[in-house]
Formats: sequence, C-alpha cells, structure tokens
Amino acid sequence: MPKLDFRYLKDFISEEEFSAKAAKAEEAHRTLLTKSGAGNDFTGFVELPEEYDREEFSRIISAAEKIRNQSDVLIVIGIGGSYLGARAVIELATSSLRNRLCKNGPEIYFAGCNLSPDYMAEIAEICEDKDFSVNVISKSGTTTEPAIAFRFFRELLEKKYGKEGAKERIFCTTDKARGTLKAVADKEGWETFVVPDDIGGRFSVLTPVGLLPIAAAGIDINELMVGAAEAKKEYENPVFAENEAMQYAAARNILLEKGKALELLVSYEPSFTQMAEWWKQLFGESEGKDGKGIFPCSAIFSMDLHSLGQFVQDGTRNLFETVVRFEKAQKKLAVAFDEENSDGLNFLSGMDMQEINEKARLGTLVAHTEGGVPNIVITCEERNPKEIGKLIYFFEIACAVSGYMLGVNPFNQPGVESYKKNMFALLGKPGYEDMKAAIEAKLD
Ligand code: PA5
Repeated sequence: MPKLDFRYLKDFISEEEFSAKAAKAEEAHRTLLTKSGAGNDFTGFVELPEEYDREEFSRIISAAEKIRNQSDVLIVIGIGGSYLGARAVIELATSSLRNRLCKNGPEIYFAGCNLSPDYMAEIAEICEDKDFSVNVISKSGTTTEPAIAFRFFRELLEKKYGKEGAKERIFCTTDKARGTLKAVADKEGWETFVVPDDIGGRFSVLTPVGLLPIAAAGIDINELMVGAAEAKKEYENPVFAENEAMQYAAARNILLEKGKALELLVSYEPSFTQMAEWWKQLFGESEGKDGKGIFPCSAIFSMDLHSLGQFVQDGTRNLFETVVRFEKAQKKLAVAFDEENSDGLNFLSGMDMQEINEKARLGTLVAHTEGGVPNIVITCEERNPKEIGKLIYFFEIACAVSGYMLGVNPFNQPGVESYKKNMFALLGKPGYEDMKAAIEAKLD
C-alpha cells in the first residue's frame, strides 16, 4: 500500500490536533461507505474494484488487442474525467516519452480535451500514412470539445477506410442507454462500453473510461484492478488510527484550517506529470465549491525547483506539499566518470541516479519544512500497474472522506456549467439568445 509519513508535519500539527479530528474522519468515512451522504448515488467507485462487469472487462481486453493489431495510432477523445485518468496511468506505468519509445502497442494521442485547431490538425498530421483507430469517451455525448473532435476524426476515418472499415475502428465509451453517442453508436454498429451511472467522471479511471485506452497501451489492467481491490480492503477499515486515507484527509483539513489553502503535489518522476493532472481534477472538482476547498497544484522536482522552488521556499506561506515518491526506479543508470572533472562532480561517478534523486528529495524536504511548508510524504514501491491501482484507490477514498469532512458534496460540479453557458451564448446556440447580448456587453 502507499505508505504515508506524517513526521514532517510535527512543527505544524500537534498530536492532539491530529487525534481530535479522528471522530470527524471516521464519521465521514462511515457516511461514504454507508452511502448516506450528499451525492451518494455517485459512490459506485467504492465497490468497483470487486464489483465490476467481468464480461465487459473481457470485451475491453479483446477490443484493446484488436486496436493494437490494427493501429499504429490510437486517438482517445474525451475531456475532464473522460480523459485524465487514462493518460495518467499510461504515462505513469510506462513513460512520459512512451510515444517516442513505442515498444508496446500503438502511439496514443489525446484529442477533444481542448478547442485548439492547431492541436487537432497536428494529430491528424501524425495519422497521415498511418493506420489509426478512435476511442471516443463521453458519458453525455454532447460535451462540446470531444463532440467536435469526434466529428473531425470520424470523417477522417470514414474517408480513409469507408463507413464499413471505420466501423471496425471506432470504439465508444458512453452511457449504457441514454445520450446521443449511445444512440449513434447503436445505429452505426460501433462497439460500445459503459460509463457506469453511479460513478462520476473524475472517479471513473478504473471503469471502461480508463481501462480501454490503458489496455490498448499494453498495460495489464488485471493487475491494476488487483491493486485497487487490495486497497479497497485496506481502506475499508473504519478505525482512524489504522486507515491512512482517513489520516491524509484529516491532515489536509487541519492544514486548511491553519491557512494552508494550496496543496502542491510533488513527484520526482516526470512520468507522474499526468497523474498529478488527474489528482488536481479529483480534489479540485470534489472540494472546490461553496467558497471552500484547497487549491490543488503540482510540480515535478527537481525540474520545478529551478522555477517554483524560490516561491515554495520563501514566498507566501499558504501552501503545503504532498510528495509522492517511488522507492524503485524502472531502470538503473550510473553517473559517468570524467577524466577532467571539469564540473567537479566526480564524487558522484558510479552512483545510481535514483540515489541522487532521493538525496535531492531529502534535501528539499528539510529545506521546505524549515521554510514553513508542511510536508506529507507518500511512498509507493514502484511504477507498476498494481501499485498504481492502489494509489488511485487511496486518493479516491481520501478525497471523498476529505470532502465530507469539509462539509461539501464531493460528487457534484455545479461550477463547471458557467463557462459552458457563456460559450454557447457567444457561439449563438439556439435557446441562448437572451444571454448573448448581456455577455457581449460585459466583454466591451
Ligand atoms: O468529472 C466530470 O464529470 C467531468 O470532468 C466530465 O467527465 C467531463 O465534463 C466530460 O463529460 P462527458 O463524459 O459527458 O463528455
């Protein structure tokens, strides 16, 4: 299991303050597990690692194999919760450079997660002269960004392979019955996978939403689910002192009460970049409402120590860090010896880079805590699917408990609608006529 180290909070949170939160954390945990709190119809992620559809899981593995056999490129279309988890796991389990290394399965690109014409045209350029398939992921089927991207790539597919050929290359992950995408998929005969009704987008990485692209990347999704199932057993424990997901939730809430309103999720692994993006949505969208919440941000060290390091060490004291570390690197790499020693670093020659990375982490930990930044350290064994499954489940439970402790509904996202309404009005969507003039006046 991810192992939490709260030692570096001791100058910021006393033992009494910590144990005083136990009852509230246990109550929030009970509320989640008994499905008795706000948004309880979106808590299906709790049982998911044990109670998923095995028949659909087999279909995912077959579809992934088909994609791998017939495609040089897979385009995954989706946004928010229908995008971040798959990308996070693929990069964390393999590499942020996976598409360049490409030893296992198709190159994978993500579209429908922005509205940039340049970005979309560039992906189309990558697909020229290559065989490609599309996995479109949208619960509603009407989200603007993925819907526009799907129109574009569907047309490209049908031009290249004809309607019948394209049918073999379009895979839809959407609502089981409702929604436009499901209706079109059934009409066209595309294979479909289900976004469960009781799991919200940001909690859906272990459903077909994440699993199909992850499997297409050659990652063992069975191991991912085994890890998550082990984590489920661990974090079912109702006792605060024995449940680190509850303890993480409690520590965050105490730090917020002490004015630490920003949480910087840090890793020393570049392949963690997208996992941090997933985590930001998970916590940001779950907690940031009703004028409350911790603003989630992220950094990759040591890279960002050369950009954000000054602020973290010495700037406004309103942040804390959560550092996710991996004990084992996937590869061993020793520092070279240099006859001339012009950089003065021969004292490192022969040393494994993982050891140097670890010393950078420890040095930073001491510097930042001395600079007034509380640190929570989460240690994972390595970047393999099983450990990643555990980490995902840990964060999901901790997030839900933390949200309940904060007094919000962790499973809704009412604020996301505001920009959409304004955008639709400005684009002239029928029904939004009255809003258009008012918004244009504000922009003058
Ligand atoms: O977490 C969420 O609910 C959102 O991020 C959605 O996943 C996102 O807006 C995409 O929605 P849809 O899957 O309906 O296209």
